[in-house]
Amino acid sequence: MIVRLDKFLADAGIGTRSEVKKYIKAKQVTVNKEPAKGPEQKICPENDCICCGGKEIRNISFFYYMFHKPAGYVTARHDEVEQTVMDFFPDFVKKKGTLVGRLDKDTEGLLLVTNDGELNHRLTSPAYHLEKTYYARLNAPVSPDAVEQFANGIDIGDDKPTLPANLTIFPVEETQTESIYSAKLTICEGRFHQVKRMFHAIGSEVIYLKRVSMGGVTLGNLPRGEYRELTEKEVMELKQAVSCKREKKEVKKYEI
Ligand code: URA
Repeated sequence: MIVRLDKFLADAGIGTRSEVKKYIKAKQVTVNKEPAKGPEQKICPENDCICCGGKEIRNISFFYYMFHKPAGYVTARHDEVEQTVMDFFPDFVKKKGTLVGRLDKDTEGLLLVTNDGELNHRLTSPAYHLEKTYYARLNAPVSPDAVEQFANGIDIGDDKPTLPANLTIFPVEETQTESIYSAKLTICEGRFHQVKRMFHAIGSEVIYLKRVSMGGVTLGNLPRGEYRELTEKEVMELKQAVSCKREKKEVKKYEI
């Protein structure tokens, strides 16, 4: 992966972005034995030899975790009042890790945590359109027309309609006491309360929400409140899912 030199050095713990810029300006940093051209110089940590003050800076080791967020926790590093998802992680993850996007306090499911800033940026940037799939329970039946409405994009009160989204409506489950209405929705944006607002726009309210996958990585049967490291294959899948920017017009049109 290609990264900016100043970001690489800052991520490796050499100093803050402004400190490492000073080292670069003072010619203390070399790239493949040549003085660094500037903080914005692009380097490949796997192949390039970066030295600072004559000492080689090794490629930092990245970690990637998935977490099954329970309802009732806020997606934040610290909170004065609420319990946060970071409360579940060991200190080194709390210190160096960053949450990949966010889930509402009452939403459950897949959350990723990593110290790989570049990948995190891509996974959350609107330019890369990472697919995220949610399972939702609803207070009312959803009309089959919603599949086409969601595939075409709907107005949820923002400047622009939503991008194409893939909706599967599950058959109603009848129990002795209630009828359960549920659906699966895949979106490739991350607007505020997006899933809840999309269903609200078609007259249903989300009463339970769980994220089940992100870019081909699925939560599987990881118990609620537990985390595990991603496999190499899962990390590769995530990287591939955001390997290039997509124009809005290139966004996948789901089959109806
Ligand atoms: N959409 C929502 O409405 N809530 C979430 O937590 C995630 C997506």
